This record gives sequence, structure tokens and C-alpha cells, in this order.
Amino acid sequence: MTKDSDTVVAELPRHLAIIMDGNGRWAKKRGLPRYAGHPAGVDAVRRVVEACVVRQIPVLTLFAFSSENWRRPAKEVNLIMDLFIRSLRKEVKRLDRNQVKLKVIGDRSAFSKKLQQQIADAEQQTASNQGLLLQVAANYGGRWDITQAARSLAQSVASGELSAEQIDEQALAQQLSFSGVPEPDLFIRTGGEKRISNFLLWQCAYTELYFTDLLWPDFDDQALEAAIQDFSGRQRRFGRTGEQVQGQTAEAS
Ligand code: IPE
Ligand code: IPE
Ligand code: MG
Repeated sequence: MTKDSDTVVAELPRHLAIIMDGNGRWAKKRGLPRYAGHPAGVDAVRRVVEACVVRQIPVLTLFAFSSENWRRPAKEVNLIMDLFIRSLRKEVKRLDRNQVKLKVIGDRSAFSKKLQQQIADAEQQTASNQGLLLQVAANYGGRWDITQAARSLAQSVASGELSAEQIDEQALAQQLSFSGVPEPDLFIRTGGEKRISNFLLWQCAYTELYFTDLLWPDFDDQALEAAIQDFSGRQRRFGRTGEQVQGQTAEAS
């Protein structure tokens, strides 16, 4: 079977992207205030990162805080920010030990100086690691990403480095938050909602979508395995016919 991403039956995802939803409902189900679900969500992050390391999945992108999540009550936003700082500080050693390379994607300029510093330190500490690339999307929005890419191209045209005719899909993709990383093969959303909520809009053009009713703090290795099993049974056609794709599989095997 060929490894070319534009062909054949899916195998293990090279890039897994997850909307970690349902922390608030998980807490409320236990009679706790909704923000008590977020620390439980961090425990699930730790489990899933380790499961991806064991499976040798090359890239994991987690949606931690959207550009719209600032609309939540200030108390919850502040608690999430504090948790983010504490978790970065606490988890970075373990990430490093597991050869995980951490990158935060999103507009970090809105974060406190302390959080920005914590992010920069964690990224620097894990920068040379060769294992899993863990991308944490924080103050991230797919529309923000496309907009900042368009702005950057416009600046290059204004300065004469680029002509408008040179702008094609590849040029725009290169300006997005993570260029050079394969697009997500598998997208998982926990918590039962069937929407993308402004996550990776450009990058998910041909991503396989998987939705589960499990709330994020309940997501574990078994749930990940179920998602991967479902994914590996799918035929990815990228616009071609099923017969064409099957023909390629037969030729390549
Ligand atoms: C996801 O869980 C975490 C963040 C958005 C930060 P939620 O907090 O959205 O949980 P529900 O969807 O309200 O249950
Ligand atoms: C999406 O969850 C964002 C994150 C998980 C970080 P939300 O809970 O914010 O999404 P909506 O508002 O239900 O669409
Ligand atoms: Mg939610």
C-alpha cells in the first residue's frame, strides 16, 4: 500500500486534531461548578498525549481555547488562564522526557505577559525534541488564521516582494499558523456537538471528521482507539472516484 496521502485507504493518522469539548457538562453532571471540569480536562490531555506518543502519531493538535471563548464569564476565563499557566509549568518536564515538541498556535498577544513567557519557555525547552509535535491551539480561530495569512500576503504585495498573480493556494497555506505540517487526517470532537466551531477551517478541507458523545474528561485510550479504527476503515477519495482509488491501492500493493 502506498504512503501517498492523496490516495488509498487510510491507515494511522499522521496528524490528529481534537476539539476537546464537554468539560463544563462533565462537572455539572457531578454537581460541581462548570469550571471544575477544566482540570479534569487537563488529565485527559495528559492521557491522550501519551497514547499518541505510544502509537507514534507524528502530530497532535488540541483546541484548548477559541478566539470566541473570551465571551465566557470572566471568572471562568481567568480560571482557564491560570490553569494554562500551571499546566505548562507542571507538564513541560514530562513532555520533554517523552520527546514531545510543544508549539502553541493562535494569537498569543492577548495573553498576560506571564502566560506569554511561560509559553515561550515551554516551546524553547522542547524545541529540539524529535517525537510527537503537540500543537496547542489557544486564542485560536480558523478565521483569524486565514485573515492573518491574507494580511501577510497583502504586506508582501505592498512591499513589492510578491505580485498578486503569485498568490495561489500554496502561497496562502504557507502563511497559516502551521505550514510544513501535514493537514489533519482525522478530526475528533468530543461532547456530542457536530460543528467545527471555528477550528482549522482551511486545513480541514479533506480531513475525516469523527464525533463522539463522550465528554472530554472521559476520553481515554480506548476512545482514541475507537476513533482510529473508524478512520482506518474509511476510503479517502480527494475528489476521485472509489474505483480510481481502489485501482491505485491494487497497483501499489
Ligand atoms: C471545552 O469544554 C473547554 C473549553 C472550551 C475551554 P467546555 O467548557 O466548552 O464544556 P461544555 O461544552 O460547556 O460542556
Ligand atoms: C470549542 O468548544 C472550543 C474548544 C474546545 C476550545 P466550545 O464549547 O467553545 O464550542 P461551542 O461554543 O459549543 O461551539
Ligand atoms: Mg463546549
